[in-house]
Amino acid sequence: MKTAALLAALGSLVSASTFAAAPTDPFLWGVANAAFQTEGEPAPSDWAAWTKVSGRIADGSKPDQVFGFWKNYEKEFDLAHDLGANAFRMSIAWERVEPEPGKFDEAALAHYEAMIVAMRKRGLDPVVTLHHFVNPAWLKDGISNPEFPARFTDFATRVVARLGAAPAKVRWWITLNEPTVLAKSGYLDGDWPPGKQDLQATCEAMAQLVRAHVRAVNALRKLPGAADWRFGIAKHWRPFEAKTFSPLDWLGAKITDHFFNREMMDGVLTGKIRMWAPGAKKVKEDLPIEGGRGLDFIGVNYYGRSIVSFSTKSPFVIVAEGDGPKNDIGWEMHAEGMYETLRQVAEYGLPILVTENGVADANDAYRAGFIRDHVAEIDRARAEGIPVTGYLHWTLTDNFEWAKGLAPKFGLCAYSLTEKTHSCRPSFQEYRKVIQAHR
Ligand code: FCB
Repeated sequence: MKTAALLAALGSLVSASTFAAAPTDPFLWGVANAAFQTEGEPAPSDWAAWTKVSGRIADGSKPDQVFGFWKNYEKEFDLAHDLGANAFRMSIAWERVEPEPGKFDEAALAHYEAMIVAMRKRGLDPVVTLHHFVNPAWLKDGISNPEFPARFTDFATRVVARLGAAPAKVRWWITLNEPTVLAKSGYLDGDWPPGKQDLQATCEAMAQLVRAHVRAVNALRKLPGAADWRFGIAKHWRPFEAKTFSPLDWLGAKITDHFFNREMMDGVLTGKIRMWAPGAKKVKEDLPIEGGRGLDFIGVNYYGRSIVSFSTKSPFVIVAEGDGPKNDIGWEMHAEGMYETLRQVAEYGLPILVTENGVADANDAYRAGFIRDHVAEIDRARAEGIPVTGYLHWTLTDNFEWAKGLAPKFGLCAYSLTEKTHSCRPSFQEYRKVIQAHR
């Protein structure tokens, strides 16, 4: 008994030191997806309701017209294994796990546990997102509900206590996916739920997301097992470049960088909320952070850069795509921006995991080159000592691209709804070669 206790104590020492030495872990190569976009059979949520309103989804498609990850997860993990991946990012649908406030569905938790065990059997290290844009239908007003931080914390605590322990043993946790994008699309652009167009409400929503992250991480760090877990967010980061050498364009680029990139990152890392944009009143609050740091690593979603020019009308900036080649949905493909992003994010001094990077490309005309070019920029950053710990491509199989519906094809594989079969595009093999070449 005594020897067993000693071995257990040594075991926990070893895992604590592995944790501290994160950069020596094997580089994570894999793919990323999210519950609402891939699972099919959506449970009641703000997004499920949104997709039912005519005109909200550009091509009129529905989130259940996908391959159905909820039931067909084994197939996806087989594909990821064939790809040579050693990691897989997925998310947990809050609306499945907590279908009514305070009532947790044991069967849903057990189902996610079985998914992660199936993933692990194929040598895939799970990276799990707790909030990927979607709120349960019962959470009135979604993230603006004053109870959102506490409710999210309860949900996160249940999930992490269960899936962070054996047999699932998830180590990599993402609390929030792209919080700034969620606030901007839902509260400023108005094309995602709740469909508002209000700058002040956008700043409030950003603050509310920080409160949820900080409250959740503070609670999670107190759970038994916390020494094995790493917490991050998946931050959509964009380099903002001034259109000309004019000081006004430069100022515009600085303001946009601050609003889109840094206010959120500073908030979740330090607990200091300072949300502001020209024309809004600053939302300011200081939250205590357990252990003094809100993140163990930074997840970066990189899709491109933005070009900024000054405008005389509020909000005083015009943000545009760069003039390089575009993907199917008009986003510029700009691999150098990956390096620039990593360089900027490295200033925070934490390990970086590329949690998303991908391209809408139905004909698979650009994807292989896109992956090679972006990975080359990651190699360049790593060669300079930037601690990048993995690359997760968005995505393995075509799925539901939010307000754009099914039209954009981000998958290494396509899926035929009529024949119920996957067919992988040539870039699948090309990504496989990239992974092999780095092993
Ligand atoms: C990101 C989202 C992800 C997916 C990709 C294309 O902004 O995090 O869910 O939609 O874009």
